[in-house]
Amino acid sequence: MDNNYNKLINNLEKLNLSTVKNYVNSYIDKHNRNEIDFVDALYELTSLELKFKKERSDRAVITVAHFPFIKKFEDFDFSFQPDINKQQILDLKYLRFIDENENIMFIGMPGVGKTHLSVSIGIEAAVNGKSTYFISCNDLCLQLKKAKLENRLEQRLKHFTSYAVLIIDEVGYLPMDMEASNLLFQLISKRYERKSTIVTSNKPLNKWHEIFGDAVLANAILDRLLHHSKVFTINGPSYRTKDYFLSEN
Ligand SMILES: Nc1ncnc2c1ncn2[C@@H]1O[C@H](COP(=O)(O)OP(=O)(O)O)[C@@H](O)[C@H]1O
Ligand SMILES: [Mg+2]
Repeated sequence: MDNNYNKLINNLEKLNLSTVKNYVNSYIDKHNRNEIDFVDALYELTSLELKFKKERSDRAVITVAHFPFIKKFEDFDFSFQPDINKQQILDLKYLRFIDENENIMFIGMPGVGKTHLSVSIGIEAAVNGKSTYFISCNDLCLQLKKAKLENRLEQRLKHFTSYAVLIIDEVGYLPMDMEASNLLFQLISKRYERKSTIVTSNKPLNKWHEIFGDAVLANAILDRLLHHSKVFTINGPSYRTKDYFLSEN
């Protein structure tokens, strides 16, 4: 039927206003019952549409960022790691470190929440329009090595340099050969003072020469990472084994 109601629905479809389309009937009814005036109805409908679109784009950027799991700051039990300065961590939500091109490092034994906190920061960055990517150090090095073999290293370095926030997880879990260390150094150098890099490691900084098998390279990498950075050393217990130890007592 070619009436204006049908044309309205058609327009909403063409404008891609699916949420307005879903709710428009209930708002017409409300309006007819004199429960809502025209401006309020339009305002509420458009607000619902914006909310829906924001949620959809949040999901999309979170998918693109390639996080291993979705954990937010609210999911982190700070009372379990009393050594961590909670306020300093929560301040990272405001993403000032991105504007300052600062790096963040989480150092600590497995299970203390390094990846969790990195992901929480990454989610915040991603949903606030900062391009964000999560990758393990091992995968990153494999990708760079492969690119080098295929004569497209520059391109790949450029790609990883382009992210506003790059999370490099698990630096030092596996030993790195000279080539991998060198490639990581190149990437860190390119991002230095231009972009923010978040690094997690189970190795204290004074043992980093063991990761790279070369003290000079280890120092060069650390130098650039640490120059403008916030370092969080988490000394507490592993959250993964907390129930095991609790039940032992
Ligand atoms: N303080 C905490 N509060 C809530 N969950 C935590 C906490 N610390 C760690 N976890 C959870 O325990 C698991 C291991 O943490 P993870 O961040 O992967 O440890 P790490 O990267 O330091 O090895 C994850 O599922 C994480 O969400
Ligand atoms: Mg981890």
